[in-house]
Formats: sequence, C-alpha cells, structure tokens
Amino acid sequence: MVSLLENPLRVGLQQERIPEPLIMVIFGASGDLTQRKLVPAIYKLKCDRRLPGELTIVGVARRDWSHDYFRDHLRKGVEDFSDGIQSEELWDDFAQGLFYCSGDMDNPESYQKLKQFLGELDGRRGTFGNRVFYLAVSPKFFAEGIEQLGAAGMLDNSDKTRLVIEKPFGRDLQTAQSLNKVVGRVCQENQVYRIDHYLGKETVQNVLVLRFGNAIFEPLWNRQFVDHVQITVAETVGVEDRAGYYETSGALRDMVQNHIMQLLCLTAMEPPNALDADSIRTEKVKVIQATRLADIHNLDNSAIRGQYTQGWMKGKKVPGYREEPGVSETSTTPTFVAMKLLIDNWRWQGVPFYLRTGKRLPKKVTEISIHFREVPFLIFQSAAQQASPNILTLRIQPNEGISLRFEAKMPGPDLRTRSVDMDFSYGSSFGVSTSDAYDRLLLDCMLGDQTLFTRADEVEAAWRVVTPALMTWEAPSDPNAIPTYEAGTWQPAQAEQLLNRDGFRWRRL
Ligand code: BG6
Repeated sequence: MVSLLENPLRVGLQQERIPEPLIMVIFGASGDLTQRKLVPAIYKLKCDRRLPGELTIVGVARRDWSHDYFRDHLRKGVEDFSDGIQSEELWDDFAQGLFYCSGDMDNPESYQKLKQFLGELDGRRGTFGNRVFYLAVSPKFFAEGIEQLGAAGMLDNSDKTRLVIEKPFGRDLQTAQSLNKVVGRVCQENQVYRIDHYLGKETVQNVLVLRFGNAIFEPLWNRQFVDHVQITVAETVGVEDRAGYYETSGALRDMVQNHIMQLLCLTAMEPPNALDADSIRTEKVKVIQATRLADIHNLDNSAIRGQYTQGWMKGKKVPGYREEPGVSETSTTPTFVAMKLLIDNWRWQGVPFYLRTGKRLPKKVTEISIHFREVPFLIFQSAAQQASPNILTLRIQPNEGISLRFEAKMPGPDLRTRSVDMDFSYGSSFGVSTSDAYDRLLLDCMLGDQTLFTRADEVEAAWRVVTPALMTWEAPSDPNAIPTYEAGTWQPAQAEQLLNRDGFRWRRL
C-alpha cells in the first residue's frame, strides 16, 4: 500500500516532486472557488507535469449534476479564468479523472454514498485510499462537514487522509477555538491544512529567502537599525457581489487576521532551525504571540477603521459601501483598517509595525516596507534636509520585486544628495510571471507539506491580536461613528494621524 505520508524526506518550500496517486474530494464543487481557482490551478499542475496520472477529483455539492455536466462546467472555468486548455489530449486525460457525487453537507447518508463511491474509484483509478478532503464551502458548514467526515470514519487513517479548510477559520477567537476542537476530535493536526492563499504567493515566500538566504540583511533586521515597518494591502475593488459574506466579515476578518498577520509574521519572525513545517510555524506562532495593539486602553491610538463613501475610480463614479447591493444603509462594517502593532521581544521592542488594508483605494498594491533609522550624524551639512532614511521595500504584488532606497550624490560641483532606488524585479530577473497561489498550495497539500498552511495555535494567536478592535467595533454604537474615506482615496484622516502622531507618514504608493 502506498501512503501519502510515508516519505520522511518531505521538507518544505522546495523540490520538484510528484504526489502519490490520490482522490481530491471538493465539497462546494458547484461554487465559484472550485470553478475559478481550484480546478484551473490543478489543471495547471497537470500541464506542468506535476501530478500523477491517477490524480482524481470528486466534486460534491447539492445540485443534481452528471459527471459530464461537471466536466463541462470545470472546462469552462479553465477557459474563462486561466490560460485555457493547453492541449485537448491533456484535457481529455484530466477530464477522465473528474467525477461528481451529489450530496448534502448535513446528511449522513450523503457521506456513506460518497465513501462507497470513493472506494469504487480506488479500484478503478489506483488511488490506494489516499484522500484530500477540501472544504470549499461557506464557513458555516465547516464544523458540520468535519463532524460528518469523522462520523463516517473518512478521516480515521491519518497517514492517508488530509483535510483542507478555507478561510475564514472562525469569526473570532472563541469560534476559532471551537472549530479547532472539532478538528482535533476528528483528526490529527498533521492532517489539517488551513489555507491562507497569501502564503502561496512567491513573493511572500521570498521574504524568508531574502532574510535567511542572505547574510547582509539579517544583522540590520532589528530594533537597533529599523525605525518602523509599514505593511499595505490595498485593493481597488469594492465589495463586488459579496455583500452577504462581507457584511458579516469586514476588513479586519477578511484581510488583517489572516493575510496581513502572515506578512507580519514572516517579516518579524526569528530564523527557524530548519525549513520544515513545524520549525517555521513554531517561529511564526512565537512572533504573533508577542504581538499586540500598541494601545489597547485607548483603541483610537492604535486601530482605525473606515468605510468608503461614493467617489471616483479611473474616471468612473462608484457607489459608497452603504449603497452597494446587499449592504445595510446603516452598516458599520469596516472596509478599511489601519493598525499600529508592537512586538514585545528582544528583536523588536519599541519598533512600531503599521499596517493598513482597504477596498476602493486608488491602487491595487501589496508591499512591506522596512524603514531604517536615520544616520547618527550627518556630515553633509548643506544637504541636511535632503538626506532621507533607507527603505527596503518588498513588493508582494503587482510588479513583484524588491527595492532598496538609499542616498546618492547628485552629479555636479555641490555635495547634494538625492534618494535613489536599487531594484530587483521578478519579471526581468527570472523572465516569468509569478504563478497563482492556489497551484502551489494545492500541490503542497497533495505532497503532505504543511509549511505554507496555518497551524491551530497560529490561527488562535492571530485572532487574539485583533480581538480588542473586534470587540470595540462590534459593540452597539452610532452608525455614523465609523470614519469614512471617499472611494479612490487612500484612507480616512484618522489613519493619517495614526502615523503623524509618531512623526511618520504612510508611504506614497
Ligand atoms: C481574499 C479576500 O481572501 O483576498 C478578498 O476575501 C480579497 O476580499 C482577496 O479581495 C485579495 O487577494 P489578492 O490575492 O487579490 O490580494
């Protein structure tokens, strides 16, 4: 028998390996995520020859679809949302491994039917009982689905079965803890893959390589040399057609607790002992556990929320958040969050980490900037006003790359300086564009590599950091108390002040 986990050499973030034959069962198979992201990503892996020929996908959803209807539906997804069908022959081979099994998340009979079908497929496809169960369903079904899989005995074999859980994992600390308890009752932590798609981005993984694959940055990466850090995750899109989800989530749950917290972890963590999943995740947990809002007694000094009002984006008038379809006229859901965090440890004591994220901002851009201290004594007297501190910018997306800003002498007889940038760009250095995060994550999960997935204690620690803001903002209050910003502008004035008070400014992007 071939087991998913039998290869002891499975270490993270590297190596071209092919997973063992397996069945990936996707719950929520008729939904957007499956059609737009998951299956196009798996098909891309197929085109890149990264999958075993026996790879089998079984979609589960309520609708009464046939296998062929499901295959056509997925093909359309690949055509519309990715590079398209690369080769008909390859697609036919891929499509032969696609199956559909209708079922209800809360009906035990559906799981028995599925179990039997998977058993049959094992014989036909040679998948040896190896399974990945992917919960691509609304979070309200997570606990139910996991309990039912457990009750049906489908997660009993911890060597051969895995469970993938989409975000959001819980909606606060308490719900995350109870979901972790459900998971813990049914399977072991080494079977669990909590997805945060930011960890699948090449540039996010490159934060580790930059820091721990080079000797020159790490000696400066601490309170002695770093003045402050800024993390921006800006989006131009509004709530789109997701009001149902977003109204109950908001920017804090949607972006800060997960994606931004991961960026912060990788930026601030200590060097791990090795590149395996647990060494990395242990360091990440340590740094989140040391992270807190700068002033929890007076929240306005460390956390600012905002909501977009109508404005202009690329010359087009766009509605305010409260005018979007499905959004309450008195909604207090934040579409913008800025925070000042401090990390209580030897490396970072006293260094503020400022983060901000929002929808309907002027530009789609994600970056981490490390702002270094000023020179201790400036000898260029006449140029005193021009010398600005060094900034190392990690451009996560778009225009992926890294740049270092430093002072250079301007040509001419005077000793005048100006800031210039030394730049690395993924596109021009590697000649390829970075791939979608999902293909990487799906492959890792099939390979049994948990490095880029969040551990139970990590998710809970991240919820702890945002809890004071969550509790304050969700207490009943005047709906007009939420600060606003016009769509197409960077932030509410209060978020400017968060930095100005400390003598800083948000980077102009
Ligand atoms: C998702 C959020 O997790 O990330 C969305 O739910 C957000 O609201 C998206 O738009 C941003 O992802 P990316 O990869 O486009 O930065």
